[in-house]
Amino acid sequence: MSKAARKDYWQAVALADDVGRKPRRILFEGAPVVLFRSGKGIAALFDRCVHRLVELSTGKIVNGEIECPYHGWRYDGDGRCTAIPGHVGDMPRYRVRRYSAIERDGVIFVSAGTPEGEPYRHCMQGHDVIARRVRSSTQSTVIDAAENILDATHTHFTHKGLLRGLSAKRHLVRVDVSGGEGWVEACYTGEERQQGLISRLLEGERTRTIGRFRHPGIAELEYWGKDGLALATTFHLRQADESTVEGIGWLIGPRQGGFGHLKALAFRPLFNIALQQDRKVLKSASDNARHPPRTAPAIGPLDFLRRDIASIMAGEMPAAATTPRVHQIEL
Ligand code: FES
Ligand SMILES: [Fe+2]
Repeated sequence: MSKAARKDYWQAVALADDVGRKPRRILFEGAPVVLFRSGKGIAALFDRCVHRLVELSTGKIVNGEIECPYHGWRYDGDGRCTAIPGHVGDMPRYRVRRYSAIERDGVIFVSAGTPEGEPYRHCMQGHDVIARRVRSSTQSTVIDAAENILDATHTHFTHKGLLRGLSAKRHLVRVDVSGGEGWVEACYTGEERQQGLISRLLEGERTRTIGRFRHPGIAELEYWGKDGLALATTFHLRQADESTVEGIGWLIGPRQGGFGHLKALAFRPLFNIALQQDRKVLKSASDNARHPPRTAPAIGPLDFLRRDIASIMAGEMPAAATTPRVHQIEL
């Protein structure tokens, strides 16, 4: 069976700070899941008491176990029912479904399978960088949201002034698309100095931009200058329910002594403005798509990654893995 079919992969679902003394409910692949801190670390259970189906997440944590608010049945981090208040004698065996859960680098990852190894976090993990975490919720689908992050051609319109300059002047840019099992990327070279506010504040000359998609729903951007990495972001996206995409992201910059911290401080609010602009346009598309007749979106000549992202999400090898492509566009 393919990796995608077995679901043996981690998905970023929450920031560690979101789960404190109280449990927290999330939607995971359409299912309600409660996250809480058990005696053995972070736990993720199907958020439904087996007794009368009450949300366990509205209960409380007692000695590392979650207590249902209705009759007080308790469940441990493995989902086993450990107490039925008032019951005398042997405990009948009840359990709720448990999910694999792990906390790394301030983020909680959950899996519907049994993944081996550590969750992938971000494109600069293991390097001496400054990384800040952000969270977002967008009315969209994972493929549309991922494509939006990686799509350089919307920035002239959706983010005019912020990610692009105000002039309509474009420049010929080379785009190399390559891929492998579970990933595809587009590498842009020949871009002019970026005139958007974010670039002018935070970057020098840009030599290379890379947009990459990774299985199951990770979109990342890297901006490289002559002295190395200028900025990067890795966003983990997942479909919480039919029309909501939840994202956990890292904003990454070089350390550069104390200067990196200053930049990171400035990056987050600016990035949030861009995120808000994207949310608006993605919501418009999502609302509008519901009107009949249902139409598949057109994959235009500049939508280099769309088909390969769809293949990767379906657990298939992207076409770019066997046939790398080169495009020339005006950006
Ligand atoms: S519904 Fe949970 S204990 Fe009765
Ligand atoms: Fe955008």
